[in-house]
Amino acid sequence: MLILENMNLVLEEERKRIQILDNIDLQFEWGKMYALTGPNGSGKSSVARVIMGIMKPTKGRVILDGEDITSLGITERAEKGIGYAFQHPARFKGLRVVDLLEIAMKLSEKAECQCLRQIGLCPDQYLERELDNSLSGGEIKRIEIATLLAQDPKVRLFDEPEAGIDLWSFEQLVDILGSSHTSDSITIIISHQEKILEMVDEIIVMEGGKITMKGSREDIWPQIQESARCICRQTCSKEGEIYADCPR
Ligand SMILES: Nc1ncnc2c1ncn2[C@@H]1O[C@H](COP(=O)(O)OP(=O)(O)OP(=O)(O)O)[C@@H](O)[C@H]1O
Ligand SMILES: [Mg+2]
Repeated sequence: MLILENMNLVLEEERKRIQILDNIDLQFEWGKMYALTGPNGSGKSSVARVIMGIMKPTKGRVILDGEDITSLGITERAEKGIGYAFQHPARFKGLRVVDLLEIAMKLSEKAECQCLRQIGLCPDQYLERELDNSLSGGEIKRIEIATLLAQDPKVRLFDEPEAGIDLWSFEQLVDILGSSHTSDSITIIISHQEKILEMVDEIIVMEGGKITMKGSREDIWPQIQESARCICRQTCSKEGEIYADCPR
């Protein structure tokens, strides 16, 4: 199990205190798929960054199968089986797609090709391409996802995998996210997409750095659909009580 315990993330900038995450308590079980959703700036990617060790929480702990990994860095967490496909993947001039896939995992060429094919990229066209600005936004995003699939970590964090992916490839993406998940893995997908929210076991909703809803897809999905129709959403969400006190 992966546990985030009473986690806070506060940044100090020019004597200003910015609370990014506010008392986050979450438990992720092996074999389950989770969607993390919520408005822009609500703290979703920050949760992923804290799990991956890119940011250290100001308070609280990250526990993986009983081991406190809060002080571990990115490489050590990757060795423990945590992987993160970034919302905005980096470009590396001079590095080829094949090099990145090889770094992700010591795979045979066949497996590298397979990871690219799974995500709809032809290996003949892409393996030798440089990871520079010549790749389109959708291409670099797909390569990022292929890299995580190549790495095949136990804890898989996908940050808005659908961003920049065309409509024609979206179904394929949803399929591969689902079919690559196993009973030994935890898959956490940060997403706003209905199709993704529909396929997970549990949905977590964030707003203003806090968890405002969490539970089974069956319980939470109808509430999200209801709230999306709420004409007074702004007022309700400002009060931090997502739609609970809706005067409608
Ligand atoms: N290094 C930083 N300095 C200042 N503010 C930051 C920093 N990192 C994150 N934030 C702020 O923290 C908040 C949460 O950011 P985060 O990237 O986690 O949001 P998000 O829910 O992933 O949003 P989106 O849906 O737009 O990707 C935002 O308001 C962001 O501006
Ligand atoms: Mg984000």
